[in-house]
Amino acid sequence: MPAGTAISPAARTRSFAYAIRNIVAEARKVEAAGRRVRYLNIGDPIPFGFHTPPHLVEAVARAMRDGHNGYTPSAGIESVREAVAAEYVGRGVPMTADRVILTSGTSEGIELALGALADAGDEVLVPTPTYPLYTAVLGKIGARAVYYRTDPSRGWLPDLDDVKRLIGPATRALVLIDPNNPTGAVYPEATRRALIDLAHRAGVPILADEVYSDLGFDGPAPLLGSLDPDAPILSFSSLSKAYLAPGWRAGWLAVSRSDRLNDVLAAIKKLADGRLCSPGPMQYGIEAALRGDRSHQRQFVRDLRERSDLTVASLSRIPGFSVVEPRAAFYAMPRVALPPGRTDEDFVLGLLRDTGILCVYGSGFGLPADQGFFRVVFLAPPDELRAIYADVATFTAKFLSGGARS
Ligand SMILES: Cc1ncc(COP(=O)(O)O)c(C=O)c1O
Repeated sequence: MPAGTAISPAARTRSFAYAIRNIVAEARKVEAAGRRVRYLNIGDPIPFGFHTPPHLVEAVARAMRDGHNGYTPSAGIESVREAVAAEYVGRGVPMTADRVILTSGTSEGIELALGALADAGDEVLVPTPTYPLYTAVLGKIGARAVYYRTDPSRGWLPDLDDVKRLIGPATRALVLIDPNNPTGAVYPEATRRALIDLAHRAGVPILADEVYSDLGFDGPAPLLGSLDPDAPILSFSSLSKAYLAPGWRAGWLAVSRSDRLNDVLAAIKKLADGRLCSPGPMQYGIEAALRGDRSHQRQFVRDLRERSDLTVASLSRIPGFSVVEPRAAFYAMPRVALPPGRTDEDFVLGLLRDTGILCVYGSGFGLPADQGFFRVVFLAPPDELRAIYADVATFTAKFLSGGARS
């Protein structure tokens, strides 16, 4: 290669798209032009004034002070894996520590599981809208994300006929995000059982993303494995959301007791060996979280519910808007009735440039761009949310009458 020629990245990076962060580049341009940006794009409670429980911080600080700063075993510290297993057992899922791997957040669990299950050309069933890491990782592997529909007219529940139609010999896994990001849906037991049954009949494991299971507005959502302990389920979670420590990158992956998953578990452990371990001191935070006081969750969920109610009431009043009420977590997925020829990205970028409010367009989660969905993170304090939604209403009126630039 001649000196001075640009060095090209690997082709696989082209299909790695993660709209939640990618859109920040647009926000930086708006900031550079002198406008304050209100970031409603990323699900991190900390910048909005929520605090990590002090006993978790103390457990991590103590671990560092006590000299636990070396590598841990690659699957994680034994006593912490036991604490994770005990959490599953306590919630009705038989689990042993040797089937638990501590990971750098749920994200690494997702990456390890997909890496252990899918080869180039394989298919993995992913919901639309989806949390975009699944499609990004599949793109990197060269495997194919096959989208199954979730239905806004039925509270964003999975379309079981669609799953039945799409599941086939090339399917290597079925991804279930429940409670869901980006829709805030919590699936009822009948839906969950039907999905387990479909996966079981097709011989396909379920990747159960349960990172929001503690944040159900009507109480914690049951873990999927509690419905059928013998189903092949890989469950992921972390301290990021319900324990308010996303920056720690402290998570876990738990593989159900089904013998059919033993080779996959061994493959995951092999992949995990290559990255040595997840952050060591933070593993002590997991043990403190799962064995200690979790009363902070009651207030956190109350705060989320208040913001959710405010979001639904404010957005559904805006002419041209509809919104499905979230049942968990801190996301809503409103829809704006777009004029012909306009996309969800036009709306979101217009909103950003006009008001400084940053959301993520629905097509970033795998929805068709002409449907007009976008995701709102409602973690900001109620007064701030009220002001934000008033600005959304003013902008929308302009946008729908053709007066707003995008
Ligand atoms: C559904 C879902 N899965 C996984 C993650 C990643 O979480 P973690 O911080 O544990 O890696 C997120 C983060 O927003 C998420 O919403």
